[in-house]
Amino acid sequence: MSTDRSAAPKPGADAGNQAQIDYWNGQAGETWVRRMDRIDAMLAPITQALLERAAVAPGERIVDVGCGCGTTSLELARRGGLVFGVDISEPMLALAKQRAAGRSGVAFRRADAATQPFTPDHSLVFSRFGVMFFAQPADAFRNLRTGLAPGGRLCFVCWQAAPENAWMSTAGKAVTPFLAKPDAPPDPRAPGPFAFADREYLHSILTQAGFEAIGIEDLRTTLHVGDDLDQAMAFQADVGPVARALAELEGETREQAIAAARAALAPHVTPKGVDLGAACWLVTARSASPPAAR
Ligand SMILES: C[S@@+](CC[C@H](N)C(=O)[O-])C[C@H]1O[C@@H](n2cnc3c(N)ncnc32)[C@H](O)[C@@H]1O
Repeated sequence: MSTDRSAAPKPGADAGNQAQIDYWNGQAGETWVRRMDRIDAMLAPITQALLERAAVAPGERIVDVGCGCGTTSLELARRGGLVFGVDISEPMLALAKQRAAGRSGVAFRRADAATQPFTPDHSLVFSRFGVMFFAQPADAFRNLRTGLAPGGRLCFVCWQAAPENAWMSTAGKAVTPFLAKPDAPPDPRAPGPFAFADREYLHSILTQAGFEAIGIEDLRTTLHVGDDLDQAMAFQADVGPVARALAELEGETREQAIAAARAALAPHVTPKGVDLGAACWLVTARSASPPAAR
C-alpha cells in the first residue's frame, strides 16, 4: 500500500530553509546515518515517552516530520500507523527507505515540511526533534496543520535551553571560547536544536499556526552519552554543539578545543559510563476547528 497520497512540493516553494537543507545534506546528514544506532539508543527514554503520549491507534494516518533515518516512522508503522515520513536530507532518507524495504504502512518523501502540500486526512503530525529548523516556524506549523483532519493532533519533542541539557552543554560550553566571537549575539530562536527553548514563544508559534489545547510538558531524563570518556568524546565530536563548533576550527585551535571538551566531560565519568541530564518539551496540541461559516 502507499501512504503517500500528498502532492509534490510546489516548484520553487521556498520557506527560507536553504541553509538547513544544505546542512542536513552535508556532513551532518552523513554523520547521523553513521551514528543512527548510537543516537537511537541514547534517545530511547525520550522516544518511549513521546510514543506513549502519541498513543497511536491502528490505521491512523501519520506525518512524521523531519523523520531522518526513519526510526520513529518505522516504529509508528509497527504500532499500526500509516506513516508518511518527510525530510530534507537525502542521505538520511536513503537509509530510511532502505530500512523500510518490504515493510508496509510507511512511505518517505524528500521535501521541506514547511512547504510540502499534505492531503488533509492525517490524524497525527508527529516529530522527534525534527521541527526546530524552520526559518518561518508559524508558517511551517500552519502548513503542517493542513495535513490534519478535523480534530487531528500534534505530538512532538524539542529541546529546552542548552544549560538544561548537560549532555550537550557540558562539552559545548568548553569549546565556545575557541570560536571566533560573533559580531552580534546569536538569535536564540534561530533555526537549530534550541529554537523552541522558550516555552512562551513555542506556545505563541503553535497558537499563531492554528493549534489549540496546547500542552507543553517538562520532560527530563538522563542520557547515556558513552560507555567511557573516549566514546563520549567521540560521540560529541560527531553530533551536537561540539561537532558544530569543531567544524569551524582547524589545526592547533581545534586540538585545544577537543582537549577542553574532554576535560569538561572527565568529571562525569562513572563506572557506568557518561550519563548526563537532558530536558525537552513534550508537546501536544489539537488542530483548532475552523471558524463556523456565517
Ligand atoms: C535532529 S534531526 C532528527 C531526525 C529524526 N527525527 C530522529 O529523531 O532521528 C532533525 C531532522 O529534521 C530534518 N529537517 C530539518 N528541517 C526540515 C524541514 N524543513 N523539512 C523536513 N525535514 C527537516 C533534518 O533533515 C533532520 O533529519
